[in-house]
Amino acid sequence: MRAIEITESGGPEVLEWHEVPDPPVGRGDVLIDVTASAVNRADVLQRQGFYNPPAGASPYPGLEVAGVVAEVGADVEQFKVGDQVCALLGGGGYAERVAVPWQQVMPVPDGLTPREAAGLPEAACTVWSNVFMVGRLRRGETLLVHGGASGIGTFAVQLAKALGSHVVATVGSAAKGERVRELGADEVINYREEDFAEKVQADVILDIMGAKYLPGNIRALRTGGRLVIIGLQGGRKGEIDLGAMLAKRISVHATTLRSRPVDEKGVIVRSVVDNVWPLVAAGAVRPVVYAEVPMADAAVAHRMLDSGEHVGKILLVR
Ligand SMILES: NC(=O)c1ccc[n+]([C@@H]2O[C@H](COP(=O)([O-])OP(=O)(O)OC[C@H]3O[C@@H](n4cnc5c(N)ncnc54)[C@H](OP(=O)(O)O)[C@@H]3O)[C@@H](O)[C@H]2O)c1
Repeated sequence: MRAIEITESGGPEVLEWHEVPDPPVGRGDVLIDVTASAVNRADVLQRQGFYNPPAGASPYPGLEVAGVVAEVGADVEQFKVGDQVCALLGGGGYAERVAVPWQQVMPVPDGLTPREAAGLPEAACTVWSNVFMVGRLRRGETLLVHGGASGIGTFAVQLAKALGSHVVATVGSAAKGERVRELGADEVINYREEDFAEKVQADVILDIMGAKYLPGNIRALRTGGRLVIIGLQGGRKGEIDLGAMLAKRISVHATTLRSRPVDEKGVIVRSVVDNVWPLVAAGAVRPVVYAEVPMADAAVAHRMLDSGEHVGKILLVR
């Protein structure tokens, strides 16, 4: 098969489309003939040498794919050859084929093609597990989503709105704010012009900025609020005002999906299929695709992500 190899740490030019060995298919694996994958910020960090794949994961980048089942391992009963599926990966999505534990495989949501579903697994699993399973966002509560125009943010805005929350999102431009409002945000805050902590009181915050936003996030939480940090774009070390946490009975969580054991990923994946896929099938949550780029030109897609011009996901198609 062919796959994108990271030839050395560096800029997008280090991504090269090469002939590589086919992945081995373990007894519990599903081999997927990849129709499309999608680019995530983590892939950029991996390309730059800051985010190595977890032990046992494929060396090729790519945290999600959709396609058709080409083969199943001896122990797999849940999927069969020819099924249209999408999957959450530890790596290896920028390739013609990928082998993945069956627990991380999902059917393509009803009404979608594999190509349309390729950018859903990472956002759906990240948002569902963090905002709903960890953050326990309830109907009628307020969610603050930082980076509302991101791949993760566009999904979070739609899902929280579909499940009856008041949704506030931060964005970096008026044009992105417009787009995020169209997706269902009740309020948008341009982080370049306004201090979000002065503007919103939230029950749950989905944060991607880490240290830089820690004081503001604590201020912006209501009593009983939950801060869930999934990104460290603004640094990893910050000071926390424990007094404010005590007084408001606030909890702070920080999680990552990629390094979790297969069984934990499986619990999240099944919960996504049960709770999120019906909303996708009903059209209440839609894939937001900014661009489709041929997989062999992954460098072009990475330049696009690096530029920050995108809203939603950039797909890599075959
Ligand atoms: N922990 C996990 O398991 C997990 C899983 C998936 C993703 N993530 C994290 O989630 C984040 C989003 O991932 P992605 O792939 O969706 O990336 P992405 O599409 O490239 O989005 C990055 C976002 O950061 C926003 N941003 C930059 N500076 C900001 C600031 N000062 N305030 C608020 N927003 C700011 C940008 O907003 P504008 O474009 O509007 O300027 C952009 O929307 C990344 O940090 C990623 O590492 C974590």
